[in-house]
Amino acid sequence: MSPRNWRVGVAGLGTVGAGLLTFLSERPGFAPAGGQVTVSGVSARSRSRPRPFDISGLRWFDDPVALAQSDEVDLFVELIGGSDGPAKAAVEAALKAGKPVVTANKALIAEHGAELAALAEAAGVPLLFEAAVMGGTPAVKMVREAMVGDDVRSISGILNGTCNFILSEMEQGGRAFEDVLAEAQRLGYAEADPTMDVGGFDAAHKITILAALAFNCAPDFAACEVEGVDQVELLDIRMAKDLGYRIKLIASAERSDEGVSVRVHPSLVPLAHPLAQAGGALNALFIEGQRLGRIFIQGAGAGAAPTAAAVAADIADVMTQAVRPVFQRPATELAAFTPVDRSRSLVRAYLRLLVKDEPGVIAAVSETLAEAGVSIESFLQKPVEDAEGVPIVLTTHSVSEAVLAQAVERIAGHPAVIKAPRLMRIARI
Ligand SMILES: NC(=O)c1ccc[n+]([C@@H]2O[C@H](COP(=O)([O-])OP(=O)(O)OC[C@H]3O[C@@H](n4cnc5c(N)ncnc54)[C@H](OP(=O)(O)O)[C@@H]3O)[C@@H](O)[C@H]2O)c1
Repeated sequence: MSPRNWRVGVAGLGTVGAGLLTFLSERPGFAPAGGQVTVSGVSARSRSRPRPFDISGLRWFDDPVALAQSDEVDLFVELIGGSDGPAKAAVEAALKAGKPVVTANKALIAEHGAELAALAEAAGVPLLFEAAVMGGTPAVKMVREAMVGDDVRSISGILNGTCNFILSEMEQGGRAFEDVLAEAQRLGYAEADPTMDVGGFDAAHKITILAALAFNCAPDFAACEVEGVDQVELLDIRMAKDLGYRIKLIASAERSDEGVSVRVHPSLVPLAHPLAQAGGALNALFIEGQRLGRIFIQGAGAGAAPTAAAVAADIADVMTQAVRPVFQRPATELAAFTPVDRSRSLVRAYLRLLVKDEPGVIAAVSETLAEAGVSIESFLQKPVEDAEGVPIVLTTHSVSEAVLAQAVERIAGHPAVIKAPRLMRIARI
């Protein structure tokens, strides 16, 4: 093999695999290091499935592990997906065989990143995953490479295009969550099983990876608190807007003296903030560094061509033959996540209540919250929309999460409150 001719094995020929094969067939000499990239073997579930490109001239492997181990493969690209199963087995096989690996698989890296980094570093080969976060928008390289001279304090982003599309459509079209989700599925923006996206888990995988890169920790998916958009109601979107906010699914990672906080939840973002302006299926990311200050990037987070572009950028990096630690520090030196004590962290909150349409109820609610130690910042009451009750919304001043949780419990038990209160955080950005 000439070092200038890289033979690539591609496992997974779905959306991203198709995008990559199309790109490589058009631009085999794309890499700045020079040389050619040739696809020497492919693997997918079904050999006979129609594909948007011709695979008849390519060597077929039923088993992606055999492809990863093939003598005809210098670089293995994993585009199957899933945290375990064939994707993990094939990546492990490639690394154990001393082959560089490029993957777009956020679930795999978020859940098994540290052990795979140890395998890669033991073999002295790169394990790259630019496409795993924000698709084609270069977030991973920015945090891992361009920001090594800084200390990242916090990261906040919109990292799931499907959720962003759903929330944007709900607001613009005045439509309910279920209605927009069904349309997103028809258009192919959302999977038939939307749990990974709307449940917040996809964004959680991505912020887990960014947190590990930014804070030199081993990725710890279990430490990420996750809440999706499936409980966001149109009423909340409207009420939040009246108060000067837009609801976004915000993935955040923050480091303080007390530890690291990594979470995903629907949050209220001030309407003028760039994260509130990122509509449709866009992804966006805000990073705050001690020296660089604030950085904002925005772009396509998915799709065949943008994601394949990120995979191609990683292939080009492998071709330069520079090998860096997978997560900024060698796998053996990565710290464990030290989660912050939630009860002590401060938050500003949005609280929506459905109360009985009776005199004195609002005063009673305010009093109960004040007794529980929560101070109200603003208050909004909507005209009666149905016979069931009156929706009222309030935002709080900064309060500890423990005090807020106790206050919400007390208010939920108040005889004038008809339904369980809806609580959302106001983003700290
Ligand atoms: N789609 C995006 O825009 C996007 C963006 C960023 C990152 N990613 C990540 O990229 C990866 C691929 O996503 P995708 O959207 O391209 O997925 P996809 O369209 O569902 O494609 C998955 C591919 O894996 C193949 N596959 C499944 N099981 C297999 C097995 N046991 N052995 C060999 N091949 C197998 C499938 O084969 P068949 O074709 O025969 O069914 C299919 O070609 C995932 O990790 C995803 O999270 C995707």
